[in-house]
Amino acid sequence: MLSLVAVIALSCQRTPKVEMITISNHNGMSATFTNYGARITSLIVPASDGTFKDVVWGYDTVEEYYDSNDLYCGPIVGRYGNRIGKGRFVLDGKEYFLTINDGENHLHGGSGGLSTKVWNMEKLSDREVKMSILSPDGEEGYPGNVEITVYYTLNYDNSFDIKYEAVTDAPTIINLTSHAYFNLHGTSKYSTNSHILRINASHFTPTDEGLIPTGEIASVGGTPLDFRVPTAIGERIDEVSFEPIAFAGGYDHNWVLDKEREFSLAAEVFEPSTGIVMQVWSDQPGLQFYSGNFMDGKDIGRGGDIHGYRTGIALETQNYPDAPNHPDFPSPVLRPGEVYKQLTRYSFSLNAF
Ligand code: BGC
Repeated sequence: MLSLVAVIALSCQRTPKVEMITISNHNGMSATFTNYGARITSLIVPASDGTFKDVVWGYDTVEEYYDSNDLYCGPIVGRYGNRIGKGRFVLDGKEYFLTINDGENHLHGGSGGLSTKVWNMEKLSDREVKMSILSPDGEEGYPGNVEITVYYTLNYDNSFDIKYEAVTDAPTIINLTSHAYFNLHGTSKYSTNSHILRINASHFTPTDEGLIPTGEIASVGGTPLDFRVPTAIGERIDEVSFEPIAFAGGYDHNWVLDKEREFSLAAEVFEPSTGIVMQVWSDQPGLQFYSGNFMDGKDIGRGGDIHGYRTGIALETQNYPDAPNHPDFPSPVLRPGEVYKQLTRYSFSLNAF
């Protein structure tokens, strides 16, 4: 249950100032955040030639993030990351209608979702930042006053943790994720198609043309979505004879992780030219891998880098898309007295797999 103090704070809350904070570890790895969207704006990691590379998309100024809301460049998305069909769901017999912002569907918490809010931000130590926000009852159509906290931590072993917690004062649904775009070249001058990817998933959730799951859980076997053996992203990305690739214009699917709900290795990515390896560890049931198919090159990032077609990948650990409308999918329901918890770890090394 939200405390009375929290609910009073919610009704009195003032918008905090937009700021940026940098944290670092003793290896020279550093991460920068802004509280606009609880967003990661920079993540600098060692490369095999002894230099450091910024492996996430970002802009030179915080103002540029305001204009790029539709790209979701680095924020926490929610209250429900990913899509909800027709923005509609039923909870405890009551029908709810969410903002429609993606064709006829709801995407990433709606046009005024958590990625567009100014969060409270606090530096807890040289290696840790806390973001928190109270999302009021009815925001973008979601029920319940929900108190959300996200902790970003850089560890000594060059891993980067995102820990989420949320509580509510009324039954609701929730699915938070980070929407950082990674490019292990350290610049979006080069396509992410050269990255070698492995995903620990034998199944995925097929969708309709609007990328809403049909409800089926299908095998990846024999399809371009089979990344159980490490494969270059670009190798099969245009195999449009496989309908799910045609619908998404490349990769933009939810993989059903083999070790559902157990903190384990979900995926790993390797870029041969920089030697950078990124592992993704998570306790979530799904992984949305988006290969940047909707990018048109009009968006200009840090240092003039063009955010072009397939020059950034998102690896979003989360529940399945549209789970509120599929009783067979893992439940996204959060009730008063329960605590939503999630941990995702992006771990960096130079040890090719
Ligand atoms: C979705 C894409 C969408 C992108 C930007 C990704 O998480 O899977 O379909 O275009 O976010 O909104």
